[in-house]
Amino acid sequence: MTLNKLNYKAVSKKDVLSNSRNILNEMQSRRSVRHFSDKPVPLEAIENIVMTASSAPSGANKQPWKFLIVQDKELKRKIRIAAEKEEREFYTKRAPQSWLDDLQELGTSWQKEFLVTAPYLIVVFKVLYEEKAELKRKHYYVNESVGIACGMLITAIHKAGLVSLTHTPSPMGFLEKILNRPKNEKPFLLLPVGYPAEDAKVPDISKKEFEEVAEVI
Ligand SMILES: Cc1cc2nc3c(=O)[nH]c(=O)nc-3n(C[C@H](O)[C@H](O)[C@H](O)COP(=O)(O)O)c2cc1C
Repeated sequence: MTLNKLNYKAVSKKDVLSNSRNILNEMQSRRSVRHFSDKPVPLEAIENIVMTASSAPSGANKQPWKFLIVQDKELKRKIRIAAEKEEREFYTKRAPQSWLDDLQELGTSWQKEFLVTAPYLIVVFKVLYEEKAELKRKHYYVNESVGIACGMLITAIHKAGLVSLTHTPSPMGFLEKILNRPKNEKPFLLLPVGYPAEDAKVPDISKKEFEEVAEVI
């Protein structure tokens, strides 16, 4: 094991405070967007965003994720058709009434036009194990690690000036088939990414107060 000196630039207390206020304000303006523009986005921006996510911490540094950046129109169309089939079943048959009641407040439906309008779909897969020369090596804390990477992905998308939707068509098995993934990869999240439509609207919801989500002890 080699240890390197930490690359850390000292920040004053005053700057820590103002930085923390700025990031709070900036991130509180992030919203899940369901109405996208088809305005093109440079692929390099998406690559930078994905590499920001891939810099996340992970159990034993296994980096158990794979990001499929889908820009191909035909693949997006196939994903939309398969997602809408599952979602229609979910909304009309599988979802319990309490879940439908919660979703009603968000105005969502089985229709997923954004899957073809957004210039990119980032499909995040969790990688359960690594296979080298027929030897399987297990990854650790896969859900926690991929969840953290997705949080950083969503933050990077927002900081870059783009919008996304955290989408989980249920179930997501069709993504493995359409995107031809190996057995050790399972779909985790699907995020359309791009600019918002000019008339994009978002549900009128609120976030919990500090006292509800945190305790100082
Ligand atoms: C794990 C997860 C799954 C989600 N799945 C969906 C989804 O399938 N469809 C959808 O429209 N929104 C989905 N959302 C978005 C949430 O509805 C949204 O984050 C929530 O209403 C809060 O709104 P905000 O992101 O604008 O703050 C999902 C969010 C998370 C974290």
